[in-house]
Amino acid sequence: MKALVTGATSGIGMSIAGKLSKKGWELILTGRNEKVLKKMQAKLGSGTEIIAADLSKKDEVLRVYECCKDKDVDMLVNNAGYGLFGKCEDIDLEDELNMLNVNITALHILTKLFLRDFKKKDRGIILNVASAAGFMSGPLMSSYYASKNYVVRLTLAIYEELRRDRSNVTVTLLCPGPVATNFNNRAGVRFSVRPISADMAAECALKNALAGKLFAIPSLSVKLGVFGSQFVPHRLLSAIVYNIQHGKIQNKDGGR
Ligand SMILES: NC(=O)c1ccc[n+]([C@@H]2O[C@H](COP(=O)([O-])OP(=O)(O)OC[C@H]3O[C@@H](n4cnc5c(N)ncnc54)[C@H](OP(=O)(O)O)[C@@H]3O)[C@@H](O)[C@H]2O)c1
Repeated sequence: MKALVTGATSGIGMSIAGKLSKKGWELILTGRNEKVLKKMQAKLGSGTEIIAADLSKKDEVLRVYECCKDKDVDMLVNNAGYGLFGKCEDIDLEDELNMLNVNITALHILTKLFLRDFKKKDRGIILNVASAAGFMSGPLMSSYYASKNYVVRLTLAIYEELRRDRSNVTVTLLCPGPVATNFNNRAGVRFSVRPISADMAAECALKNALAGKLFAIPSLSVKLGVFGSQFVPHRLLSAIVYNIQHGKIQNKDGGR
């Protein structure tokens, strides 16, 4: 069995790659950091291929697909992604478009192209890494939350199309709350609640994806939060999320 894992150089993606390798899967790993990719290849062994690519660029995304399309990939793990923190008007437009390219466009392209291939052979697993953020609006991280809403809605819609076609292809949505990875450093914030480990998130993702389940939500509190959020009026939910996000602002003087 073979999996393509995006964002494999760190955090949840790195952990998913390690766990799949232990289960005997061959891997194709991508990320921008070639040095880390080479280290992972050396560690995980000969069944591991690497492709250094910047998924904010459409050509690079298509190059990744071209490298993989004839390799009989069984599982696509769309994990690469990151967040930008700040008020909508303050975040640099180019930075934001790059993030949307990684979180939405790259995931969309790879999902569509592999979905076509998987449908042809009537097997394959697509594991899309969304977030609990995908079920709500996110003041102070507005475009990140919106991007994860896209991932949730796209994946849910594909799930239903596959179900109606009685397809053996499956899609899974990983929707974690806070996970201890490089995510916060890149967004320039710190968690206001205790994160789970990347290993816990990866374990939950693979358990559910390999069982063909739609949702992978790796903690009871996040499950309750995602479920409960459906019953909270939109404006109230936004106000609650604003307070949570505001609590994340890093105190540059070393406090809280
Ligand atoms: N950590 C959390 O609290 C949390 C919660 C919910 C959902 N998530 C989601 O989990 C996924 C993984 O994030 P993480 O928490 O594991 O963070 P992470 O440790 O920062 O890992 C992010 C991965 O994405 C890759 N990536 C970022 N920009 C890229 C680009 N332009 N081109 C190609 N690859 C790129 C990075 O690789 P390179 O740097 O090598 O390019 C890295 O491997 C993301 O989709 C994130 O939104 C995270």
